[in-house]
Amino acid sequence: MEYPSNVILLLLQLLLQRQQTLAHHNKSLDLAQLLRDPIVDKEVLDQFQNHKLVKMYSPELSNLHLRALKGLVTDLFTYGIPSAESPQGQETNVITLANHYYNKRIGELTLIELPELRQEIKNLLPE
Ligand SMILES: *[C@@H]1O[C@H](CO)[C@@H](O)[C@H](O)[C@H]1NC(C)=O
Repeated sequence: MEYPSNVILLLLQLLLQRQQTLAHHNKSLDLAQLLRDPIVDKEVLDQFQNHKLVKMYSPELSNLHLRALKGLVTDLFTYGIPSAESPQGQETNVITLANHYYNKRIGELTLIELPELRQEIKNLLPE
């Protein structure tokens, strides 16, 4: 997945909220089923495209078509969670994916961004 994990995480968060809203308003929809096979609609697209995180980190995604966003979500599910990280039998759904990208994001912050920040601060301090 070539997009930053914080952008993917945002998409999963918006998807989760949207599925909860849909399930809440339509009793014939099953939330567990929606989380395994989320509805990707105009509402999710609008929220995602107009989010400042997307504009900042992945501006190329800010004029995405619905079809492309659906493709992106399908890719996320297809790519899934590395088996080393996923206990056997754990299903791939919006929540387990979000958990995976959350851990990935924390890993990036710890390994890359925090040391960079520390270095920047060090450079700013007088010797
Ligand atoms: C509720 O969901 C079902 C199953 O997807 C759908 O057929 C139906 O049209 C929906 N009802 C409303 C009011 O949106």
